[in-house]
Amino acid sequence: MPADRLYNRSSDIIARDEALITGAMKYRLYPFSVARANGVYLWDADDNEYIDFMAVGGAIAAGHAHPKIRRAIESALDDGIAHPLVCYNHQPAVDLAEKLVDFLPGRFETKVWFGVSGSDAMDFLAKVVPLASGRPRLISFSGAFHGMTIGSGGISGHAALSKPIPNGHITKAPFPNPNNCSWGPCEKSGCSLKCLDFLEKEILGILSPPQETAAIFAEIIQSDSGEIIPPANYFPALQELCNSHGIWLILDEIKTGLGRTGRMFAFEKYGISPDAFAIAKPLGGGLPISAVIGRAEIFDADLYTAYTLGGSALPCISALALLDVIEAEKLVDNAKKMGQYLVSRLNKIADTEDMIAEVRGEGLLVGVELQHKSNSPESISELTAALARRCFENGLILLAFGNVIEMTPPLVINQDQIDQALAIFTKSIKEVGRA
Ligand SMILES: Cc1ncc(COP(=O)(O)O)c(C=O)c1O
Repeated sequence: MPADRLYNRSSDIIARDEALITGAMKYRLYPFSVARANGVYLWDADDNEYIDFMAVGGAIAAGHAHPKIRRAIESALDDGIAHPLVCYNHQPAVDLAEKLVDFLPGRFETKVWFGVSGSDAMDFLAKVVPLASGRPRLISFSGAFHGMTIGSGGISGHAALSKPIPNGHITKAPFPNPNNCSWGPCEKSGCSLKCLDFLEKEILGILSPPQETAAIFAEIIQSDSGEIIPPANYFPALQELCNSHGIWLILDEIKTGLGRTGRMFAFEKYGISPDAFAIAKPLGGGLPISAVIGRAEIFDADLYTAYTLGGSALPCISALALLDVIEAEKLVDNAKKMGQYLVSRLNKIADTEDMIAEVRGEGLLVGVELQHKSNSPESISELTAALARRCFENGLILLAFGNVIEMTPPLVINQDQIDQALAIFTKSIKEVGRA
């Protein structure tokens, strides 16, 4: 640990955590015990300061402890309206549902479902869609991450995050990955969409016939597989394919939605219109809430699926405050501008640091892919984890998956704060490179 940092109280809490809380719910790259947070900064239990480029995996949009969101929560508590939605109704959920349906571009009757996490939203969709359509099969993508429940894990295809969950009625299609295409190499801009031909001929043609296939589930950017951005022509063509077979297109906007990619929703980039999509992570302004917005006919299936605290008044009020802040502070525009600045600064760093193979991302969802300097004995994922740890030791919190460092700061970040974080990042690269 650097000499200017003390970790006495943190070490104690970390030891107690290790003794009692199961590793099944931990993805830890460094020993951090968070005590408080404000804006884009975090402090540990020993009062060391960190700049937050993780933001709870992209779940903090308006920054930590935003005053408008705090005030909304405090006044809701004063009114004593922390009620659930299942057994009686309350205005905050109706107000929120009315705002959310406007986000779906399709011209059809729309409804909303509320839960408490991204996983339960995708789980609900995996359950309801076959019932609503009368078609038993689903298609999703290799490399996708949709959550940790049995249902959302079943539609996931992530090597590390969804490995123990078999599901015979779900067929995995190859995700269009310009950097690792089985039919490549191809031009990113002029992709010939061989993987979509495969989906049409092999998957719809043989394994999962259209008349038995209810929906195709997708993330617009596969973030947990390393910020994989498909070629520009993929999603419009996928939507056309879905339309031609009466198959619903269901999108997971849990990480990308609500401004993260420099658009309110990542699907806007392609001019497409999903039949339903899920949001969660940032929606509650720090409180747990998820929502599915979609065609009314999907929700009108004969199915009761509710969680006691799904759509509780308190997170609905917090979500309404968050939506106001996103609009009033133009956070979608800020994500776009600051994302461009972050990527251009990272590309400059890459010019001199050969540990960086590629910088990619949209808005403030940015991945930095690493590569080895020649003849290093450690694996590339060990190197990536070592860099994340060194960044932490130098005061920068971020995530790493495989060989990609992920940067998802709160959408309120400014240029000076990005410069501060990148000074730590560059220092850490040099230190890890020398080690
Ligand atoms: C794209 C995506 N979908 C679903 C989930 C699951 O959300 P939650 O962790 O809120 O259950 C995540 C979480 O990382 C995610 O990134």
